[in-house]
Amino acid sequence: MPALNRLPLLLNVNGEDVELFVPVHKTLLEVLREDLDLTGTKHGCELGECGACAILIDGQPILSCLALPIEYQAPARIVTVEGLADGAILHPLQETFAELGAAQCGYCTPGMLVTARALLDQTPSPTREQIVEALSGNLCRCTGYVKIFEAVELAAERLRSTQKAVV
Ligand code: FES
Ligand code: FES
Repeated sequence: MPALNRLPLLLNVNGEDVELFVPVHKTLLEVLREDLDLTGTKHGCELGECGACAILIDGQPILSCLALPIEYQAPARIVTVEGLADGAILHPLQETFAELGAAQCGYCTPGMLVTARALLDQTPSPTREQIVEALSGNLCRCTGYVKIFEAVELAAERLRSTQKAVV
C-alpha cells in the first residue's frame, strides 16, 4: 500500500508507548488485533451493537470497532483485556468470572470484563441495577447474564475488602 495511505501513530497501550505506521482505514479494533496482536478484544458486530470490542480509554469504556486510532493517540491511555491482570495476578473480576461460571464460550467476556472494571473503578459498591445498566451494551448469547452480574458483585466485594485491608 502506498505510504500516503498510511498514518504514523503513537499509542499508549496497557502502559506502554508503541509507535506504528498503519493504513488510514483501520479501526482501533483492527490495529489492536492485527498490528499489536492483542486478540483478546473481539470482533463482533462491528456496528456498535454488541460490546465485544469494548476497551478502556482513560478509564472509560469505548467501542473500538467504531473508533479511529488517530483519535486515541498518547497521552490517552488504552487498556485492553490483556492489561487487566497484574503480571500473573488476575484482576478480581477475572477470578470471579472463572469461579462462578460467568464465561461460557467467552466471546463476550473481554468486553464484559473491561466494562465492569470501569464500573467498579467509579462505583465500588454498585447495586444490581447499576451493574445491569453498565453492562447493558454488552451482549451475551450463552450465560443468561445472572452469573455475570453475580461475578461483578463478588469482585466488588473482594476489591472493597482488599482496600479496607490496605487502609
Ligand atoms: S464489535 Fe464493536 S460493538 Fe460489536
Ligand atoms: S459467554 Fe458466550 S457470548 Fe457470552
